[in-house]
Amino acid sequence: MCGIVGYIGTKNAYPILMEGLKRLEYRGYDSAGIAMIDEQGKLNIYKTKGKVADLESFCAEKDTTGHVGIAHTRWATHGEPSSINAHPHYSSSGRLALIHNGIIENFITIKEKLVARGIQFKSVTDSEVLVQLIEYIMLNNKLELLEAVQVALHQVIGAYAIAILDREHPQTIICARQSSPLVIGLGDDDAFYLASDASPIAEYTDKVVYLNDGDIAVLQLGKELNVVNMENETQHPKVRQIDVTLGQLEKGGFPYFMLKEIFEQPNCIRDCMRGRIHTEENSITLSAVIDYREKLVNASRIIIVACGTSWHAGLIGKQIIEDLCRVPVEVEYASEFRYRNPIIYPNDIVIAISQSGETADTLAAIELARNSGAFVFGICNVIGASIPRRTQTGIYIHVGPEIGVASTKAFTGQVTVLSMLALCLAKERHTISANKYQKILNELMRIPEKMEQALETNEQIEHLAPIFTYAKNCLYLGRGYNYPVALEGALKLKEISYIHAEGYPAAEMKHGPIALIDSEMPVFVIATHDSLYEKVISNIQEVRARGGRVTALVTEGDERIKQFANHVIELPDTLDCFQPLLASIPLQLLAYHIAVCKGKDVDRPRNLAKSVTVE
Ligand code: AGP
Repeated sequence: MCGIVGYIGTKNAYPILMEGLKRLEYRGYDSAGIAMIDEQGKLNIYKTKGKVADLESFCAEKDTTGHVGIAHTRWATHGEPSSINAHPHYSSSGRLALIHNGIIENFITIKEKLVARGIQFKSVTDSEVLVQLIEYIMLNNKLELLEAVQVALHQVIGAYAIAILDREHPQTIICARQSSPLVIGLGDDDAFYLASDASPIAEYTDKVVYLNDGDIAVLQLGKELNVVNMENETQHPKVRQIDVTLGQLEKGGFPYFMLKEIFEQPNCIRDCMRGRIHTEENSITLSAVIDYREKLVNASRIIIVACGTSWHAGLIGKQIIEDLCRVPVEVEYASEFRYRNPIIYPNDIVIAISQSGETADTLAAIELARNSGAFVFGICNVIGASIPRRTQTGIYIHVGPEIGVASTKAFTGQVTVLSMLALCLAKERHTISANKYQKILNELMRIPEKMEQALETNEQIEHLAPIFTYAKNCLYLGRGYNYPVALEGALKLKEISYIHAEGYPAAEMKHGPIALIDSEMPVFVIATHDSLYEKVISNIQEVRARGGRVTALVTEGDERIKQFANHVIELPDTLDCFQPLLASIPLQLLAYHIAVCKGKDVDRPRNLAKSVTVE
């Protein structure tokens, strides 16, 4: 939510900042802005409503010189998208410029105090209070900027990643982090880069420092990185290496990141299994399970916490873990879990699933679980993100950067990791026979190839999509392992095509939703050949009997459903537990093509942001 980028070095800052904003745009795209200090020491701030491309056009005729700057792409929380509410915000005197990602919860109290002291605000954002408060403290107490930032942040309640420029000190950027991500890149030429995630930094350096909560970093040209805390004690964050290639951050010939990411899935799943599944020995090694074997094997219960698509992956994880490991699993929305008073036992394992590793609710659920003495395990994609740093151990899904706001490859990566974890734990717990283990593992290894086959449905789906663009509502039905797939299919459609869609367990239809069925409502049924196949056929008949129009995902060669479904999409056969890895692909493609037919901006759906770092 909101993207931050900054640069200080010897190069012209403008192209670096603009390129960085484009890479971060998936985090927010309702307005954008940039602040730079030019050679004469003038602080130039340009901001516009709209996308980064609008900012670029706006800046075309402006002075964009300077070797230091900060920039921001916004996802509105307080105040509508407008150029006034866009960041950077500047202080009353015009000396400081600040960008912020997060939410300042006590901004009204701070603002009232500052207004009472004569400070005039330009925007209605919570963020502006930070720059006004810092300047007020600095000027009134005759403090240096760093000291003023430390004093100010003591007064602030909330989440922030901030970066500040000071016209009087054009060789310095100060940035700070509390509950919102901030990464600093260390360039070979003494330059510093800063960003909300590593994507804008990766093309310049592979050496990064992830700031921890409470860290304040001083980036000064020609000096070492200086990180202190609010008490001015020096911190020693680790310099880490990032492993992101430029190709991963670009569209590679696809019109949208989402489509590229859908098509990447076979290779992503190979990457996810690489080094973990050993074909020669037919075994799985997960270092987290080796390191924490006792804890994991003896768990009396697993609680999965996640949001959105990651929560859907959790629902699939529940089924496979319960089936293979015979340990009870509960799946909770992190946003609900954190605010009720859940019963957590010290023998519980809490698994937090998150693509970004920065979701505020999931992070809060982790803190709650840790404070209750549970062992917390993370399943995450973004390396070095907050969730892997706040969990005791975990597994990266290794599917590469996911830029499309609608999550696709992260979902299948999460399901793959949960499947490997289930197999591994089942073996350790002796709840699986050697034969069953081998059978499931062999099938898992064939999934990437089968995903390639599933992707061959793309052309058929592209032709079908225009039929559904008229729809106001759609229903997705599935049972067993395919019920979460129905939920995920419906979420994808809602997110990018703005068609209302609901996922439902097929058998629950007759308890209410069947009243909605008529010829205007497309119904997508996942009816692949699994243990509930016959039951799902009956559910399809119930829909057809009421005039419903059915598009069914079936297993290749299925002749029965063809006789009564309006359309069928064929998928390769697989085990029940891996149906979601294949069945989710045509549903991703369906949502994608419907959204394209409707002329929607697939990678930047309205009102959404890639990582939800506010609650
Ligand atoms: C999925 O398409 C969504 N954009 C969204 O539901 C997402 O899965 C959710 O916000 C959780 O994000 P996370 O996996 O990064 O924690």
